[in-house]
Amino acid sequence: MKNREKRPESISIAPLRVDVHSHLLPALDEGSKNVEESLELILELRNLGFQKLILTPHIMAGFYPNSPNKIQQRLLILREYLEERNIDIEIEAAAEYYLDAFFMKELLSKNDLLTFDSEDGKKYLLFETQHLHEPKHIFEAIKRIVRKGYTPVLAHPERYNYLQRDRLLVHQLYETGLLFQVNINSFSGYYGNAARELAEYLSVAQMVSFLGTDCHKQEQIEMLQKTMASPMYATVLRAGDILNNRV
Ligand SMILES: [Fe+2]
Repeated sequence: MKNREKRPESISIAPLRVDVHSHLLPALDEGSKNVEESLELILELRNLGFQKLILTPHIMAGFYPNSPNKIQQRLLILREYLEERNIDIEIEAAAEYYLDAFFMKELLSKNDLLTFDSEDGKKYLLFETQHLHEPKHIFEAIKRIVRKGYTPVLAHPERYNYLQRDRLLVHQLYETGLLFQVNINSFSGYYGNAARELAEYLSVAQMVSFLGTDCHKQEQIEMLQKTMASPMYATVLRAGDILNNRV
């Protein structure tokens, strides 16, 4: 006990037990194509230490017309496939919503949204936006999401050009109560230098609430293995209040 008190720096960092962003439900978006590929990628993520995966297919009008019903059905199929093979990992489903007029008018107003939930009852709503320009009415959208009782989580803020060039906007968004989910692979430059720089900035500023693999395919697993073994990744885990293990 004495030793532990004297050496706080030796307290080990809790590894990520939960991933909150991936495209491993088969054949719903541009991620995994079939259950066999899902199984392979899920085994790789389990080897990286994940015990629970929140699978988040895209929902985007005109491109990925996935519904909660369809996603839940696909989850049951994949769960059964894993259970038959005695794969010991927990899988749940939410979604990565694309923020547009369809989302606001059709999905949010009907309240039929998939979320991942915290132990204390928070409903985290993961959404993405267009990459180049600040989405019109994003502040109003966040307000409405919050008013509906959800906690909005922006998927990979570091990857959007409009945030890479505007740190003030990053802070203004964060101050609304919006949480940021940063992709683990951003820290090794997988999405480019500007994304890496913003990911590091967010980590140092303690503005990273969730980390995600955003895993679609094998190539990203190889990068995750490298990133998660790096000293820089240990620094990221230490830097802020990462909520992954509380969902
Ligand atoms: Fe994604």
